[in-house]
Amino acid sequence: AYTAEPFVPGHGGLEALRKAAADCRGCPLHRDATQTVFGQGNTDARLLLVGEQPGDQEDRQGKPFVGPAGRLLDRALAEAGIDPEQTYVTNAVKHFKFTRSGPGKRRIHKAPSLREMTACGPWLAAELALVEPELIVVLGATAGKALLGPSFRVSQQRGMLLEEEIHGRPARVVATIHPSAALRADDREAVYQGLVADLKVAARALS
Ligand code: URA
Ligand code: SF4
Repeated sequence: AYTAEPFVPGHGGLEALRKAAADCRGCPLHRDATQTVFGQGNTDARLLLVGEQPGDQEDRQGKPFVGPAGRLLDRALAEAGIDPEQTYVTNAVKHFKFTRSGPGKRRIHKAPSLREMTACGPWLAAELALVEPELIVVLGATAGKALLGPSFRVSQQRGMLLEEEIHGRPARVVATIHPSAALRADDREAVYQGLVADLKVAARALS
């Protein structure tokens, strides 16, 4: 089976993890992507946010949530009263998965498979063990399934404080939509306000 397990160092801090992840060959996604996009932020953070996978911009820059979805997330966090300096941000899958299409062969995001999410899980487990956040915010269905299992449904579980077991540890979780959903939707403003409302639940859980 695909797995990152043999690539994850048994000890060391964030920089050791990041360095090792740069050479991960745990699943086929490393082949076409530019680079591993590891998590980033404060390792003392009380809040850890988990997205799906890097997008086009993240793949080029090597940092999570630096493209359009990231800018929207930053705005929503600010509106919910969450200080970005107090967060650690990462993704369920650390390489960009895409197909090329259209005349310019633009890179179009493709959802990771369950096998790829499972393969990449040891990196997320290592990040959780290092940061030990008080609360995890799950951004969208992919991150939800990766952390809470395949029966996770955003529509049913969003915006409430959940007590779950994640990678063998009890964890407090608030789920919400993926910020890119608020970039695509017809009713963008309403979808965005829903994201902010869920993040306020997270802010309250930390206060
Ligand atoms: N979408 C994600 O899920 N993660 C990123 O880092 C960027 C966009
Ligand atoms: Fe390794 Fe995850 Fe990249 Fe697959 S997606 S190669 S498991 S870092």
